[in-house]
Amino acid sequence: MSNESAPVDPQHFRQVMGQVPTCVTVVTALVDDVPQAMVIGSFVSVSLDPPLAGFFCTITSSTWGELRNADVLGVNVLAADQIDVSNACMRAPDERLDGLDWTLDGGAPRIANTSAWIRMTHNQIIDAGDHEFALCNVVEMSIPANAIEPVIFYGGGYRTLRPQD
Ligand SMILES: Cc1cc2nc3c(=O)[nH]c(=O)nc-3n(C[C@H](O)[C@H](O)[C@H](O)COP(=O)(O)O)c2cc1C
Repeated sequence: MSNESAPVDPQHFRQVMGQVPTCVTVVTALVDDVPQAMVIGSFVSVSLDPPLAGFFCTITSSTWGELRNADVLGVNVLAADQIDVSNACMRAPDERLDGLDWTLDGGAPRIANTSAWIRMTHNQIIDAGDHEFALCNVVEMSIPANAIEPVIFYGGGYRTLRPQD
């Protein structure tokens, strides 16, 4: 499908989309015995039957180049007190999990004390402009004991949720 409307200014696009809050996840995999990790805010639930979820990756990302070949993917939904984990996972690709508390769970790196954990396998990789959409099969998911609420990314920064009275 083509886009026949007036061109959208990229800065304006970013500014407006900054008004859309997202989750903060770290998508992980073990590829050729090397742990991979990438901060992903576009993680989304897709289908209940069959259980599908997915995320968008920029096609220029070197880590996506590894994750797209992974047998198993882990989605670590970061908790409100894990902004430092997100910052750690924005380091150079080979250092992202250094110093973090993680273990292998079903073949994918699982970070401790997240708000939620989801293990997935690839279903389809779909072209999406300068991104690709990784549509994935959900194979296992859990909420860790004592999990707290997730951190949110909004307007270019991290936020935590505040309940309304
Ligand atoms: C909160 C947050 C959310 C992000 N969400 C995405 C996303 O959904 N897709 C994406 O491609 N990059 C996203 N990024 C950027 C990537 O994590 C970042 O560009 C990463 O360094 C790419 O991996 P690479 O350096 O190995 O290419 C996000 C970054 C942050 C801080």
